[in-house]
Amino acid sequence: MIDTPHTTERPGPRRRRPRSGLRTALVLGASVALAAAGTLTALTGTASAASTLAAAAAEKGRYFGTAVAANRLGESAYVTTLNREFDSVTAENEMKWDALEPSRNSFTFTNADRIVNHAQSRGMKIRGHTLVWHSQLPSWVGNLSGNDLRSAMTNHINRVMGQYKGKIHSWDVVNEAFEDGSSGARRNSVFQQRLGNGYIEEAFRIARAADPNAKLCYNDYNTDNWSHAKTQAVYNMVKDFKARGVPIDCVGFQAHFNSGNPVPNNYHTTLQNFADLGVDVQITELDIAGSGSSQAEQYRGVVQACLAVSRCTGITVWGVTDKYSWRSSDTPLLFDGNYNKKPAYDAVLAALGGSSGGTTGGTTGGGTGGSGGASCTVTYEETDRWGDRFNGRVTVKAGSSAIGTWSVTVTVASPQRISATWNGTPSWDSSGTVMTMRPNGNGTLSAGSSTSFGFTVMANGNWTAPRLGACTAS
Ligand code: G3I
Repeated sequence: MIDTPHTTERPGPRRRRPRSGLRTALVLGASVALAAAGTLTALTGTASAASTLAAAAAEKGRYFGTAVAANRLGESAYVTTLNREFDSVTAENEMKWDALEPSRNSFTFTNADRIVNHAQSRGMKIRGHTLVWHSQLPSWVGNLSGNDLRSAMTNHINRVMGQYKGKIHSWDVVNEAFEDGSSGARRNSVFQQRLGNGYIEEAFRIARAADPNAKLCYNDYNTDNWSHAKTQAVYNMVKDFKARGVPIDCVGFQAHFNSGNPVPNNYHTTLQNFADLGVDVQITELDIAGSGSSQAEQYRGVVQACLAVSRCTGITVWGVTDKYSWRSSDTPLLFDGNYNKKPAYDAVLAALGGSSGGTTGGTTGGGTGGSGGASCTVTYEETDRWGDRFNGRVTVKAGSSAIGTWSVTVTVASPQRISATWNGTPSWDSSGTVMTMRPNGNGTLSAGSSTSFGFTVMANGNWTAPRLGACTAS
């Protein structure tokens, strides 16, 4: 049932509802468009495969997350990509000790709250990162003596977990507590020096009491290769914790890979051996330096390893786009600096059982481009805002082959309603919140060229950005 009219011209901010005759014409138009959709679906052939990372991972019972920076949430292409592809977020820096408690017992949650609020408004999970870590510690912590440090750590965990109680699915309680190299020793951090070996389990016990429903993880890097001393040291700690009833639920594998530290052949063994201790495993900060097919193949291997371990519950990549990566020059992520999907993206999506949503094109006619698939990508930006509504623009861009037509879904968050559209032919689902947009008339786009359509969203008190589905082309 569509409870709001849809005009096909650009509205002003105070446009009145169109007359009923126009509404009837539009409903008829929508019916025609839906009939055409049947033809398109028949040609598509990949319509049933999930077309985003989150959707594909969800079909495998996993989440697919990304690290997020609060100061990027105003950039429309960043947010569009985040909202479309991911269903879990980790604050890249905003939940670290220096960000939350820069001076003793004075907490600043503003930036972390922005990320939490964004995630919650989109139904995304949230990983908490991180409570006890030697790095990004404010200097006052390093000046404390043993018992004072213990009470500061206790207070920090309680206040931070209390702030987000019930909102975080997994917390990195302790991060990077072991040395690199062959020693297998605990890192000689201020916590280790002043509180001794017991500080890690102390932190887990405090965390369990602070939010009994959050999963509590130990998180580290260079723990991917089963034969490495650091991996063995962490394994032995987790084994000991499980044997003695120290509350630990998960182990995070950061998974920062490069040519000197590639994805190991025994990665699956490592994940499975940890899982066999009775903890979940999560890939928490995945990025892989490189490009092209070699990068793609390594990403594929990581996803396959996770899927092969039933207790590997999700994957988080350490950023949305190469341009904002902590090691940007290594181009380690799934989207390039212009938010284009990289071969690594396609490899991950395929490994998850999904498909990019482009068609293989012309299958009924013998096709001229048997190997070049028709495809398109979409981006969203808000162009205007008034007191009760906003206008959005979606740009549809053809991939590396020319396309004959395209369609894309735009989903608004109830009680929002789309009250007007322009430069496209909309059709609607029964809830009135999912609009499928197709071209007006000829939808031809040459390779790499783009077009755009627009719409007005009545906010009805909800100002979240619409969610774009994958672009489908033929
Ligand atoms: O925001 C300030 C800015 O105001 C200032 O001008 C600038 C000058 O240095 O610094 C900016 O802060 C930087 C911050 O990233 C935000 O960009 C910090 O210097 C910089 O140290 C910080 O780096 C972060 C790093 O952790 C700190 O150790 C990276 O963004 C973040 O990706 C990285 O993440 C870690 C995980 O938490 C743990 N595992 C390893 C991973 C990669 O190092």
